Amino acid sequence: MKKRYTLEQKHWDAPTTHAMPEHSRVPASFTIGNVRIAPATVLAPMAGVTDTVFRRFIKNASLFSTDPNPSQNSLSFRSEAKESASLGSQVETPTTNQQSGCGLIMTEFTSADGLSRTRESKRKRYLTYYDDEHPISAQLFGSNPATLADSARIVEDYGFDLVDLNLGCPAKRVVSCNGGSGLLRDLPLIETIFRAIRAAVSIPFTVKFRMGWNDAEIVCVDLARLAQDCGLNAVALHARTREDGYTGQARWQYIAAVKDAVRIPVIGNGDIRTPEDAAAMVHATGCDAIMIGRGAPANPWIFRQIAQYTASKEATGVGSYDIPTDQDRYRMIRTYFQMLVDEIALEDAAEAARAAAIIASGQIARDQRQRDAVGKMKQFAAWFTHGIPNGSTLRRAIFEARSGPAVLAAVESFFAAKQDLPTQEAPPAEAFPLFTDTCG
Ligand SMILES: Cc1cc2nc3c(=O)[nH]c(=O)nc-3n(C[C@H](O)[C@H](O)[C@H](O)COP(=O)(O)O)c2cc1C
Repeated sequence: MKKRYTLEQKHWDAPTTHAMPEHSRVPASFTIGNVRIAPATVLAPMAGVTDTVFRRFIKNASLFSTDPNPSQNSLSFRSEAKESASLGSQVETPTTNQQSGCGLIMTEFTSADGLSRTRESKRKRYLTYYDDEHPISAQLFGSNPATLADSARIVEDYGFDLVDLNLGCPAKRVVSCNGGSGLLRDLPLIETIFRAIRAAVSIPFTVKFRMGWNDAEIVCVDLARLAQDCGLNAVALHARTREDGYTGQARWQYIAAVKDAVRIPVIGNGDIRTPEDAAAMVHATGCDAIMIGRGAPANPWIFRQIAQYTASKEATGVGSYDIPTDQDRYRMIRTYFQMLVDEIALEDAAEAARAAAIIASGQIARDQRQRDAVGKMKQFAAWFTHGIPNGSTLRRAIFEARSGPAVLAAVESFFAAKQDLPTQEAPPAEAFPLFTDTCG
């Protein structure tokens, strides 16, 4: 998947600390149509980021204990390459008393035009997900009602639990074809699209949108009402306009306005970086669920921290959550990179089986996969290493690496030099409880 956002846009433009109101919590669950989502947290779709590896990585990093005696049930993040025989088992499934703090995951946006044109065998590339990803939503973009309806049917046939329409993407390439936030200026066309998709599928149907094209054309409340009238099951608002891009602070008051206007669930999105932010958004807007985008690659533990924060606040009145140590970060970054390397190996194996007769084209696909994975590692490194002391050294080493194993080696040697960790093997998971410090 090509990069659609510049690195600069991935940094927080206007970080704000939200005061933590006394009685606010992220809800334990909410439902979209007939799909129950618990807790009420969503990993935002992010092009080039939220592929199947990243989604499962975040779900796993979000595991938390529901055991009243957590010391009996400490969490660890285990996803080593050697343990995985297949992609499905690559991320260990939650064991008893463990639940993911991330309630719903979504695919990165997928072109409806592309999907309906593509041969079935190639569609899998866009719509790959594994059993441990349920509930999962597939996001589509496009502007042709018939094509979008066809693609929604494909998504339903693939077993996705929900289908989502993107009306928020600000990228010129998408907007110029009237997709993403380009549609925000054409509510009648949106209505036709809503009705076409609604008629095509029986799975819950949601829409994710921005407030409007610009401040002079704010349409989010009308759009949410339209969604409800057309039978959509939930709406998600990224509280910025298209012209805002990613600048300024998300204007949560518009999430509150949407919540006031409709009965279907409202998912609030924009600038949640901490558990306090998440609770503050619920408090400020009354939204039914919160959605986190950039906060997840920057801090893959964010959903787990929210769950801990909510539980501790309920139990003691004071919200607290664990914060990662350097060793936790080491394991996290290594795990994600290893998962990407493993993914390529598995795809290579599948490709080799398919393409024995067309070796040359198989080789091209393999090279492309390698490049994609290394690109993802670099992208993730840029986000994730910002909180790490001396992280710029690691970033530089990763950016200079030319292959997946070379990136892994850079990570190993950085953390080994820092903490005297073993360079060949990751330490056994049990030896590394995910967090050791807590922060109130
Ligand atoms: C790299 C990147 C890719 C994104 N791709 C998508 C996408 O495919 N579909 C979508 O609806 N929004 C996309 N977004 C927007 C996010 O889903 C989210 O609405 C936005 O980042 C605001 O939330 P945040 O402040 O929690 O990051 C993307 C954002 C980023 C940073």
